[in-house]
Amino acid sequence: MKRSEINQIIRDGMEFCRRMNFNLPPFSKWTPEEWETKGHEYDEIRDNMLGWDVTDHGSGNFAKYGLLLFTIRNGNVKLDEYDKPYAEKLLIIGVDQTCPYHFHYYKMEDIINRGGGELMIQVYNSTDDYQLADTPVEVMVDGHSYAVDPGTIVCLKPGESITLPTYMYHRFWAEGEMVLCGEVSMVNDDNTDNHFLEELPRFPEIEEDEPPFRLLCNEYPPAPE
Ligand SMILES: [Fe+2]
Repeated sequence: MKRSEINQIIRDGMEFCRRMNFNLPPFSKWTPEEWETKGHEYDEIRDNMLGWDVTDHGSGNFAKYGLLLFTIRNGNVKLDEYDKPYAEKLLIIGVDQTCPYHFHYYKMEDIINRGGGELMIQVYNSTDDYQLADTPVEVMVDGHSYAVDPGTIVCLKPGESITLPTYMYHRFWAEGEMVLCGEVSMVNDDNTDNHFLEELPRFPEIEEDEPPFRLLCNEYPPAPE
C-alpha cells in the first residue's frame, strides 16, 4: 500500500470516530515526531502493539478487502511483565469491504456493532484440516444461543454483538453505511493467532510516497535512552 493511501484511511477513520462520538485515547493522535520523545513509560503501547493498524490483506484493493483497526488495549502472550488477559479493538468497516475468512487458534472474541450501518458476519466451523465444515454452527448473539446452517450470514444491527469461539471461521462486511465495530477479546497476537482460509499477509508492504501522518502499531521507534 502507498503511505499516502494509509494516511488518508486513518484521517477518514478519525473523522468517522468523531462523527460516531467515539473518543480514542491520546496516543491515537501522536505524530511520528512526538513518538521520538516517548520513553519507556510508554512501553506497553510498543510491546503490545496498541494503536493504528491498516491492512489490505495483500490484495492491493483496500476498499474491497482491507480493514482499518485501532487497538485500544491488549496484553501480551510472550512477555511476563504484562498480565492483562484481555484486549479491545476498534474496527472501521466500509460498505462491502470484506475481511476475508479466518479463525483464531487462541483468541475468543466478541464482535460488536457499535454504530453506523449493519454488520454482516458469515460463519462456518472449521474441519480438522482447516477447511470450511458443513456442520451446523452454534452461535451466541447477545446471550441468545442457537444453531445456524453452515455459511449463514448473521446481521448485526447497531448495539448487537456475536461471540466467536476459537476455530470458528468468520468473514464480515458492512451494509448500508460504514460500521464502527468493537472487538472485546482475549489477548491478541496478530503475528501468530490468525488462520486465514486463503494464505494472506496480515501486514502490508508500504511504499513511502509521503511522510506518515500516524505511525502504525508495528512502526514505533524504540524509546530514547
Ligand atoms: Fe477475527
